[in-house]
Amino acid sequence: MHTVRSVAGLPKAGIFAELRQQLAGLIAGERDGLANAANLTALIHEAMPALNWAGFYFLRGGELILGPFQGKVACVRIPLGKGVCGTAAERRETVVVPDVHEFPGHIACDAASRSEIVVPLIQSGRLLGVLDLDSPEPGRFDREDADGLQTLVGLLIDGSDFGRLAG
Ligand code: SME
Repeated sequence: MHTVRSVAGLPKAGIFAELRQQLAGLIAGERDGLANAANLTALIHEAMPALNWAGFYFLRGGELILGPFQGKVACVRIPLGKGVCGTAAERRETVVVPDVHEFPGHIACDAASRSEIVVPLIQSGRLLGVLDLDSPEPGRFDREDADGLQTLVGLLIDGSDFGRLAG
């Protein structure tokens, strides 16, 4: 059984270093993209403070469809270009939203969400989907979170096959 080491009290850099190590350990020898993505949501949810939602949307049939997540039930389908998720997917770049109430077209799945970060998943130039994190705190996410999450997503993509799950 995998035990998640405590990250309580660590600064962001320490939390991400720990997350990288734990993700590498978890996905070593396992290439199933769904299983690995599911475990990454559990790691993130446990290690990163002040989150109310963390999960994936995968691109299928030209729209984003809900994947594994931790948090309240969420909207299932998001068209490209819509909401923070669809915007990040369409632009193929990380989007940090300090105040979701100021983001035109933000899709409110959990009314508690005040800030959000969405990181696209791109494998060999192919858009697979997005990783979406929500926080009840305004301004929860910064450049360090963007860099840290992009590295985690890179590890996930390099170590996993997504097959028909996405793309
Ligand atoms: N807020 C997102 C929708 C997904 S939920 O937050 C889980 C958006 O605007 O795309």
